Amino acid sequence: MSALLAARGITKRFAGITALDAVHLEVAAGEAVGLIGPNGAGKTTFFNCLLGIEPPDAGTVEFRGRDVTHLPVHRRARLGFARTFQRIELFGGMTVREHLLVAERARLGTGRLWKDLLGRSAPSPEEQARAARTLELLGLTDVADAPVEALSLGRGRLVEVGRALMTEPALLLLDEPSSGLDRHETDALAATLADVQAERGTAVLLVEHDVEFVQSFAERCYVLDFGTVIAAGPTAAVLGDPEVRRAYLGEVVV
Ligand SMILES: Nc1ncnc2c1ncn2[C@@H]1O[C@H](COP(=O)(O)OP(=O)(O)O)[C@@H](O)[C@H]1O
Ligand SMILES: [Mg+2]
Repeated sequence: MSALLAARGITKRFAGITALDAVHLEVAAGEAVGLIGPNGAGKTTFFNCLLGIEPPDAGTVEFRGRDVTHLPVHRRARLGFARTFQRIELFGGMTVREHLLVAERARLGTGRLWKDLLGRSAPSPEEQARAARTLELLGLTDVADAPVEALSLGRGRLVEVGRALMTEPALLLLDEPSSGLDRHETDALAATLADVQAERGTAVLLVEHDVEFVQSFAERCYVLDFGTVIAAGPTAAVLGDPEVRRAYLGEVVV
């Protein structure tokens, strides 16, 4: 079976530091894959190379069999990439539903986002229906018309996931979505992502520091340490690997 996403030999250097050294990672259609590693391991750098935010110094990124290594971010988005960032990016004064509708306008490329939101042209029934379905899937219907600043951080994160899902991506990339969330919010996020994956068949690449989150969500995972993949395979086996435990979990294995 050919991979939906295949990153091969991704290498990235910053002024003498090799942040990534020939990293290889694949995600199949509909699959939930984790990428874990300690702070500074190179996770965000890899994420940025996949998305075209930063060019790799070597290696290729293939998506649906096509070499996208040199495609700009927005062209990849059109092919079916969507992502959320480690830092939350929501707009005060806008409601949850408006956040999703802005994403929809961006997808359709109609441009006049801000004017539209100020009421010069109402969203179409199709846009409204898509937003309503996404809100329902994420359990945000009860706060649809609340301003985003009224939400907890956990539900704010779901709004970001909702924005990403409005483009109906084949692959959703998330960089540390648990950051700033407590255990309960992280577990709720894991359950919601599992629903999204099951209901829409969206493949998910979860870049995370939180091992429990990856354990509960990802079928397969990769471990990055000092820019190198030190283990890959079924999540349970990888997390039980003594080298992974020593390098990442800081355990002394006797
Ligand atoms: N823009 C940059 N300039 C210089 N060094 C960077 C830059 N981005 C990341 N690094 C370095 O690359 C390494 C990996 O960082 P990062 O990808 O952010 O790790 P992670 O997301 O796993 O915490 C770190 O040593 C970091 O300091
Ligand atoms: Mg990071």
